[in-house]
Amino acid sequence: MKAATVTGFGTSAKIVVSEKKRPKPAKHDVLVEVYCSSVNPKDWKLNKAITSLLPDVGIRPFIIGDDLSGIVVETGSEVTAFEVGDEVYGMDMRLRTSACAEYAKIAETRIAKKPKNISHVEAGVTPLAALTALQGFKVANLSKGQRILIIGASGGVGTYAVQIAKAWGADVTAVCSYRNVDLVSSLGADHIIDYTQGDFTHKKDSFDAIFDATSYESARTCASLLKEGGVFVTTFGQSKGLYSAIISKFVPVKHKTQSVTVESYTDHLNELTELFEKGKLKTILDREVAFEDIDEAYQRSKSGRAKGKIAIKIAEGI
Ligand SMILES: NC(=O)c1ccc[n+]([C@@H]2O[C@H](COP(=O)([O-])OP(=O)(O)OC[C@H]3O[C@@H](n4cnc5c(N)ncnc54)[C@H](OP(=O)(O)O)[C@@H]3O)[C@@H](O)[C@H]2O)c1
Repeated sequence: MKAATVTGFGTSAKIVVSEKKRPKPAKHDVLVEVYCSSVNPKDWKLNKAITSLLPDVGIRPFIIGDDLSGIVVETGSEVTAFEVGDEVYGMDMRLRTSACAEYAKIAETRIAKKPKNISHVEAGVTPLAALTALQGFKVANLSKGQRILIIGASGGVGTYAVQIAKAWGADVTAVCSYRNVDLVSSLGADHIIDYTQGDFTHKKDSFDAIFDATSYESARTCASLLKEGGVFVTTFGQSKGLYSAIISKFVPVKHKTQSVTVESYTDHLNELTELFEKGKLKTILDREVAFEDIDEAYQRSKSGRAKGKIAIKIAEGI
C-alpha cells in the first residue's frame, strides 16, 4: 500500500509517499481503508524532534498521521462495535495510528460512525482538532451563559472551538487577525478581537474561561482578562503554554492553568457527530491536498497561517 513516511533529518526532513506493508488489525482493532487524513502542527513538531534524535533504524521510517475517515475493511477478533462496510472517523496519537496511508489499523475505542451529513474530507480532518476544543471545554467546565475568550480562533482547533462553545450556549469572544475576522464571525463568534491591533491581554475583563489554542499566552499574561476563579486552558503547543501549565502545578498562582492533551474516545466523537448532524458544527477547509502532494500540506501547516484544516486526500475521487 502507499504510505507517507519521513525521510531526512531535522530541518531537512521531508515527507514522502512510498510502498509499505498493509497492517494487520490486532484483536481490538479495525482496519480502515483511509479516504482522508489531515496534518496537525503536532505532526511536524514531532517529526522534527524524532528525526533529529533517531537514526534511520528501528521505528523509523514510521508512517505519519493521526486523523482518519474511511471505511472498515477488516475487524479484529474481539471487535464488537463495528463491522466491515461501516463508514468511520477517528484518530489515535503518539504514533499509535499511521493514518496517512491507504490502510490504517486503529482501536475500536478511538473511532465512531462518520456523521451522515458530511463528506469523508470534512470528517477526516476533524477528530484531533475538534476533540481538542471539546476536551478543553470539558476541562474548563464551560457551561451555558458563561463568557469565554478563544485565542487562535481561525486555526484548525479554533474554528471548531468557536462553534462548539456557541453550541454549548457560551458567549464567545474570539481572538484572530484582521485576515480572518469575516471567517470567525461566520462561525458565530459574538465579539472579535483583532490581535494585530495591539496587546489585548492588558485589557480589563471578567471572562469565566480562556481557551488559548495558540498557547502563546498564559494565565499570568491573561490575568486581567479573567474573573476571580476563572480558568485558563492551554493546548501547550508552544513552550509558553507548556511552562505555565507546569509551573501552575507547583507554584500558587492567581488563576489556575489547565491543559488539554487530546485523546480520542468514541463517546466524544459521538458528541461531535451530534453537533454535525444538528447543523451546529461544520468543517472549515484551508485546502485539500492530493496524497502525492502531502509535503505541501506540511509546509502550509508550518506557515502557521492555515484558516481551518488542511485535508490530505488519500483516496482518489472523494
Ligand atoms: N495539547 C493538545 O492535545 C493539542 C491538540 C491540538 C493542537 N495543539 C496545539 O495547538 C496549537 C494550535 O493548533 P491548530 O491546529 O489550531 O494550529 P493551526 O491551524 O496551524 O493555527 C493556525 C492559525 O493560528 C492563527 N494565529 C497565529 N498566530 C496567532 C496569534 N498570535 N493569535 C491568534 N491567532 C493566531 C493563524 O491566524 P493568522 O494567520 O490570522 O495569524 C491561523 O489561522 C498548536 O500549537 C498545536 O500544536 C495541541
